[in-house]
Amino acid sequence: MTIKSEKQVDETGNAKSFLKLADRLSYVPSYIFAKLDKEKQELQNKGIDVVDLSLGSPDLLSPKIVVDECIKAVQNSENYRYPPFWGQKQFKKAAADWMNKRFSIQLDPEHEILPLSGSKEGITHLAFAIINPGDLSIVPSPYYPVHSRGTLLAGGTVYELPLLEKNKFIPDLDLIPQSVLDKAKLFFISYPNNPTGAVCDFEFLEKLTNLCIKNQILLISDLAYSELTFDGSIASSILQVKGAKDIAIEFHTLSKTYSMAGWRIAFVAGNRKIIEALYEIKTNTDYGVCNIVQASSIKAFSIPFDEHKKTAMIYQERRDIMLEQLKKIGWNIPKPGGAMYIWLPAPPKYKSSFEFSHDLLHKAHVATIPGTSFGTYGEGYVRIALVDRKERLYEAVNRMKTAGLIYE
Ligand SMILES: Cc1ncc(COP(=O)(O)O)c(C=O)c1O
Repeated sequence: MTIKSEKQVDETGNAKSFLKLADRLSYVPSYIFAKLDKEKQELQNKGIDVVDLSLGSPDLLSPKIVVDECIKAVQNSENYRYPPFWGQKQFKKAAADWMNKRFSIQLDPEHEILPLSGSKEGITHLAFAIINPGDLSIVPSPYYPVHSRGTLLAGGTVYELPLLEKNKFIPDLDLIPQSVLDKAKLFFISYPNNPTGAVCDFEFLEKLTNLCIKNQILLISDLAYSELTFDGSIASSILQVKGAKDIAIEFHTLSKTYSMAGWRIAFVAGNRKIIEALYEIKTNTDYGVCNIVQASSIKAFSIPFDEHKKTAMIYQERRDIMLEQLKKIGWNIPKPGGAMYIWLPAPPKYKSSFEFSHDLLHKAHVATIPGTSFGTYGEGYVRIALVDRKERLYEAVNRMKTAGLIYE
């Protein structure tokens, strides 16, 4: 785009005055976190050491077996072409086998599995396939932001269903007004949960499925943390619930289980019709997952499940260290059962989670995410991601103590 005259350029050189943005950009709140993230980078640019516990981006290494396969796949010129729209057959078969081994669910790899360049992208695309302007999605709040953003970008509205500490961050399904159930098209859930770390039991999944069947709502499960559960608990898939496949799909990502967030690889499993709708959007907007990434990711599915327990133990140990250290400075938080986060209540003197997160960054040089980034019911909390070594977690809490950022 050519900038035509100086008048059309603001003081920073941006073409603001004539750039007419799409209305849909105003439907999504700009990430509050983006402001703090910029401030974090400014501190880092000044050479200040920030303990960065903001994004849930795993610091562990991707599996060697995957990296080795990737080196081979890069050398195979077959992989240089566009990937097949429906995904590589071998990847789909390996993902279906993984679902079967892990959850005893049988899926048709051809029609009931689709690889994605990340769950985040897939969830956004899904909203465009289902939501018309004015349609409603039910999203438990606090939420992983994309669960609401997809609907909003597609012109829909979101009913935030509160996740409260007194209910162990499990939504009270009986409190949803019938008018909301009548109108809703999508219902999102995600356990183990980001940002609260809560886990749910199978009875909850059954009750939710029955509610969605009764009210003809499509159920979208985001099982990003299926293998990151603690203290011996095991996450269930929504597709294990009788009848769920008639109304549900489930997003699985390799980002967390296999520490492959930067590779951008995930898959969706479940109801064929919903997956086909998502596919329609995808074929019109993207080319699918890089062949090299699909070929190497197949190896990840062959890793024995016991290995995942070792990964979960790493996060569990970090969780325990963090909670123990935080206890020494006033926080007494119930143990989250999964995922990789501490959902930390702001000290009562703070008026907003943003203010607390801001102080953590500027007074203790510890980067976190303010709870309001995760929806209305995130206010009053900040999220700590356990994505650094144990020593750095000790360091973070020491810095908080020195800066007087304690719970009182
Ligand atoms: C619940 C949840 N779903 C999905 C994602 C993103 O997955 P992907 O890397 O596959 O886009 C995250 C990342 O933090 C998450 O917390």
